[in-house]
Amino acid sequence: MNGHIVLLPGDGVGPEVIAVCRPVLEAVGRRFGHTFSFEEAPVGGHALETLGVPLPEETVARCRAADAVLLGAVGGPQWDENPAHLRPEAGLLRLRAALELYANLRPAVLYPCLQAASPLKPEVSGGAFDILIVRELTGGLYYGARGRTEAGAGFDTMVYSEREVVRVGRRAFALARARRGRLTSVDKANVLDTSRLWRAVMHRLRAEYPDVAYEDMLVDNAAMQLVRRPGAFDVLVTENMFGDILSDEAGAITGSIGLLPSASLGEGYFGLYEPVHGSAPDIAGRDRANPVAAVLSCALMLRHTFGLPREAECVASAVLSAMTGPRKTADLAGPADTPVGTRAFGALIAEALTS
Ligand code: NAD
Ligand code: IPM
Ligand code: MN
Repeated sequence: MNGHIVLLPGDGVGPEVIAVCRPVLEAVGRRFGHTFSFEEAPVGGHALETLGVPLPEETVARCRAADAVLLGAVGGPQWDENPAHLRPEAGLLRLRAALELYANLRPAVLYPCLQAASPLKPEVSGGAFDILIVRELTGGLYYGARGRTEAGAGFDTMVYSEREVVRVGRRAFALARARRGRLTSVDKANVLDTSRLWRAVMHRLRAEYPDVAYEDMLVDNAAMQLVRRPGAFDVLVTENMFGDILSDEAGAITGSIGLLPSASLGEGYFGLYEPVHGSAPDIAGRDRANPVAAVLSCALMLRHTFGLPREAECVASAVLSAMTGPRKTADLAGPADTPVGTRAFGALIAEALTS
């Protein structure tokens, strides 16, 4: 198999975690007889500094021509005062929309070997859990009309069309069917009209998936249930901003946001893969970031874009075997562990892959 991957390292810890990924994919290629080719393109603050825009057209064209895209992170305090369209984040939002990547899969797994890193007591976490958040990614508040009125008020608009809800809903039902058969749809239907539409569409779809155990949950309750009984969830599906917030919470209870990968998918095999975490300006440039979220994003790429579940499994086991030892990145290291940097931990993963 030959695959072409565009790397978008971006800002902050982005380039540090992406640097770990390429040798991992190359090791997979050697072990299983595949060839991955790579090219790098600018996005985010990096693109702003070099080309004056957060998403150059050339970057979009390169992404479209590739099989898959692997992104590090965008953003940083140096651009926080920029006008909205010249913020690094605007580049990422435009890229997701331009590539029509409406379904963002964010698996959150508590591994038994990391139980001590979770802020939840073992009797609450159950010692291990495996949740999949399906976040709608190209609609809602992120893409509605926004601005300032003449009176100086600010506004953002949440709009969802039926079609936007149907396509992400179908995706979530299908994923739930292929997992443990449970789907929780998270909304705020007691207040928001977009949520009432969301719920009505989900109820219609549920008739097509009678084998999936479906429930509705209000988002405030979902935020609470995630830390009270995470093991009760299988797949959660929700709108863009609720999914953004709940996935950071899900990251925290697995031990670190530095562990959570994501896949942003549209209709075909193409995908954009990126960690759930951001550019982490507080630790950037210090070889401190956990590269696991980025490496597990590669595993999602192998599975979804390249149709290589065995190779994906192999990357996931290499990550797990690296995390099982005493050497851990600072976000996960307990008193009995030896803290290691991003590069050294990346080398441990690559080593586990080749052994
Ligand atoms: P963040 O996710 O960057 O960091 C939050 C906390 O988690 C920080 O303490 C950070 O050190 C820690 N953390 C994050 N990734 C880590 C890793 N791999 N290993 C260890 N610790 C890690 O969120 P933030 O501080 O709110 O945002 C910083 C910037 O990143 C902002 O400009 C924001 O817009 C941007 N951001 C980008 C993305 C993205 O590119 N997809 C996602 C989230 C935030
Ligand atoms: C994420 C990030 C982005 C989002 C930002 C950087 C625009 O927080 O990928 O979770 O909110 O989608
Ligand atoms: Mn986020």
